[in-house]
Amino acid sequence: MASITIRNLDDGIKDLLRQLAAENGCSMEEQARVMIRAAVEGRAGQADRIDQIEKTLRALTGPGQPASPASAGSSQRSIRGTLSGKRILLVIAGGIAAYKSLDLIRRLRERGASVRVVMTSAAQEFVTTLSAGALSADHVFTELFDRNDEHDVGHIRLSREADLLVVAPATADLMAKLANGHANDLASTVLLATDKKVLMAPAMNPKMWSHPATRRNRATLQKDGIAFVGPAKGEMAESNEAGEGRMAEPLEIVAAIEAMLDEKPKPLAGRRIIVTSGPTHEPIDPVRYIANRSSGKQGHAIAAALAKLGADVRLVSGPVNIADPAGVKTTHIETAAEMKDAVDSLLPADAAVFVAAVADWRTANAAGEKIKKVAGKGPPALQMIENPDILAGVGHHAHRPGLVVGFAAETQDLLGNAEAKLRKKGADLIVANDVSHGSGVGPSGVMGGDRNKVRIVSRTGVEEWPEMGKDEVATRLAALIAERLKATVV
Ligand code: C5P
Repeated sequence: MASITIRNLDDGIKDLLRQLAAENGCSMEEQARVMIRAAVEGRAGQADRIDQIEKTLRALTGPGQPASPASAGSSQRSIRGTLSGKRILLVIAGGIAAYKSLDLIRRLRERGASVRVVMTSAAQEFVTTLSAGALSADHVFTELFDRNDEHDVGHIRLSREADLLVVAPATADLMAKLANGHANDLASTVLLATDKKVLMAPAMNPKMWSHPATRRNRATLQKDGIAFVGPAKGEMAESNEAGEGRMAEPLEIVAAIEAMLDEKPKPLAGRRIIVTSGPTHEPIDPVRYIANRSSGKQGHAIAAALAKLGADVRLVSGPVNIADPAGVKTTHIETAAEMKDAVDSLLPADAAVFVAAVADWRTANAAGEKIKKVAGKGPPALQMIENPDILAGVGHHAHRPGLVVGFAAETQDLLGNAEAKLRKKGADLIVANDVSHGSGVGPSGVMGGDRNKVRIVSRTGVEEWPEMGKDEVATRLAALIAERLKATVV
């Protein structure tokens, strides 16, 4: 195997490799090899894979050599510089998710941002100032009063010499402090002293997140203009704990930061857009339900893309395992009936995009108690009734939005079915995707996967889009919606 030249790597990557190598007790070269192997075998996330492959190829081919394959290079180009010249003050509070903040620093720096880090004393129990300092290439600030420190710039300067303050992870304690105006350490003081925007990425045990005190604090902070990204639902670090409380992934936090610092004109400013996303769960009894394989990735990406263009996005989401998109107001529901009520309560709107995979049927009478298995009695007969068609209801509503977009996931006669849906449901556009065997379900398919190939069906014809990432489909669809709405008066 060709040897890997570590010195040709970017400083940020070198720092990360050094740290991971130290943690794993191996050489930096060996660590790089492990990461490439993981990337090639698909054990890392998509973005990580491209990123790692390109960087390693560059290391192998030497400076000045273009990295191939070409797709890897274009991915780098598209992220490079999106935060160029922006100054981020990252406050790391004490939580197990603090390790993800190290990756966040790297992600921000590779996009051109400079990152200054403030760490609480509890944060230093989880990650070291050495790691944060190596990755940010700056001094890490920890003390409120440190007149002997040559780096001491004072909390006012720290909080003002930034374009954005990001708290990741934001603990229940730090949220409570800021909601109540406390300032007894450097982290809380810079947050109180700032005149810049603040973004929080909470991370805590689900019980702490759902505690009325935390909910109150979050509402107060939101009223004070603080933005939130996440938390997501999922497994917790503690064994046997799951629920809402996982910190948003670094790339989601980056997307939220990019949106907050984006100064481009917003073609959808002043437009209210409803988006539905995810599956619905239709109860059979208190512990069982009927559902489908929708992950919510496409719907959430569309909501985020519309918000980036300035829309006031109201997302109605079924149960999913991904974080609420940044800059979007999300209502969580479980059943189709709840989704319908939520959508109706959000009308009127300028546009509505129905991405959710709503269950077509529900059980006529969900049992109040768990249905017991009785020997010799056989399975229970489930009587099903039809759910309301939310899209059709809005498509023919007295307060119909100016633009109504539906989705059609079909396993056969994709275009015929999409055109029929357009008419029957009163939609202006149908985004049709093929979920037939082999291209549909599963991590590499449309439902649950990261890529999508769609056709846009309207009354005037069909436009075929090439296969692309769900984020890219979302960006293109948001641009199309902005274009269509341009003609209508706000
Ligand atoms: O009829 P079908 O389920 O294939 O239609 C798909 C489209 O209709 C999607 O846009 C979906 O969000 C919407 N829909 C709905 N309410 C339902 C069923 C589907 O809004 N009950």
